[in-house]
Amino acid sequence: DDESNYTIVILGASGDLAGKKIYPTLWWLFRDSLLPKNVTIFGYARSKTSVLQLKTKNHRYMKAKLNESGRYERFWQRNHYISGQYGSESDFASLNQKLMEHEKCASSNRLFYLALPPSVYESATIHIHAKCMSQRGWTRIVVEKPFGKDLQSSQQLSNHLSSLFTETQLYRIDHYIQKEMVQNILAIRFANRIYAPIWNSDNIASVVITFKEPFGIEGRGGYFDEYGIIRDIMQNHLLQMLTLVAMEKPVSQQPDDVRNEKVKVLRAIRPPTIDDVVLGQYVGDPNGRGESKIGYLEDTTVNKGSITPTFASAVLHIRNERWEGVPFILRTGKALDERKVEIRVQFKDISGDIFGGKSTRNELVIRIQPSEAIYLKLMIKTPGMSSDIEETELDLTYSSRYPEVRLPDAYERVILEIISGSQMNFVRSDELHEAWRIFTPLLHYMEKERVVPIPYVFGTRGPKEADELLKRNHFRYSATY
Ligand code: BG6
Repeated sequence: DDESNYTIVILGASGDLAGKKIYPTLWWLFRDSLLPKNVTIFGYARSKTSVLQLKTKNHRYMKAKLNESGRYERFWQRNHYISGQYGSESDFASLNQKLMEHEKCASSNRLFYLALPPSVYESATIHIHAKCMSQRGWTRIVVEKPFGKDLQSSQQLSNHLSSLFTETQLYRIDHYIQKEMVQNILAIRFANRIYAPIWNSDNIASVVITFKEPFGIEGRGGYFDEYGIIRDIMQNHLLQMLTLVAMEKPVSQQPDDVRNEKVKVLRAIRPPTIDDVVLGQYVGDPNGRGESKIGYLEDTTVNKGSITPTFASAVLHIRNERWEGVPFILRTGKALDERKVEIRVQFKDISGDIFGGKSTRNELVIRIQPSEAIYLKLMIKTPGMSSDIEETELDLTYSSRYPEVRLPDAYERVILEIISGSQMNFVRSDELHEAWRIFTPLLHYMEKERVVPIPYVFGTRGPKEADELLKRNHFRYSATY
């Protein structure tokens, strides 16, 4: 609305996340006139830099077209930059001073995006709380993972944040929740009659959630080596997808009704042990060329002799009436053979087979990326004179069904929902607590026993032990998998 100022403060404005995700997203939203009219963006970081330098540095991520140059300039005119320390109350006091100079409307709202290393979370939030809270509108604090390293450290961070802010002021991002096809899960499950009666252990053999990336950690070792793939991907992105697949139907679409159901299903998950997982670490491809194919341990940002896994597959069990006996298999890795994120719900074999065992299992596949799609694998009579049967697909690939629709980037939705104050697609503190409860025993065991991951070659499917884990857990391979 025209009566309010909206100020977005990016703490860590000169860093990686800001450059690759936050500035580009704000530009795309501005370009499409989706940001509020009176929006101002303040970058804050330790570096002595300027808006002009940020503009040059981030240029390649912004994807501005030539015919948008006027608008692009206007976007940067909305930007300001202030250099300051995260531990200095007086620097935050001058930030506040600057913010006030720009707030001309009767009400003024402030969004603080913490694109910061965890080591400075605490001091930065203390100073925001002391010096920068809006006096004439809302203040919202946006945080990204890592939310701690285990149950205890995450609890400490939660306690710290909740001593300064209310839960309604805190927005914990998991950008996977905001992806188009992840958003779709509730619609598919609860806006269709056909799934409700079959969505259970009577009919479903297993659920496999796969997240593969074809690149290594490429210089991100400083962060990654300390956290590993379970904390980077599985504990958050994969668990969120699992939760949406497995949760009971919420009473309504109200944020807390949905999040209550998510927490309930998480609480029913038994923590996996070392016997439920396969861990891997990529090694260089002897046939690969160039730096991108080097092994994990050859990356100079990784600690020597590191045993941090870059691949993990884990079987989770949900102890409730709907899911007893159905394995949920999470698989994720860096430096694999392809880029793909998908959810595969595999149904049980047909009963009373009259086709001589030729029927393969039905599968509902939700492909998150690339090329968003929903498809259902099913059997048909082979077309034509043949009376054989064969497997085919009912295929809803978005690019062919909805060629004109531009699917927004997850971060675009993230920012808009924070501005509009909708917390449904953000992680609530009890949800985070449960996610850490599930993985902490395993992570502690791996660290204490120094479990060595299985080597796999860059660009392959990962350790073959992971395929065996799938087979042991009611998953039947078909020709197309
Ligand atoms: C991040 C992880 O949360 O998600 C990265 O830290 C990963 O390791 C990234 O590459 C993947 O996100 P997207 O949206 O590019 O699939």
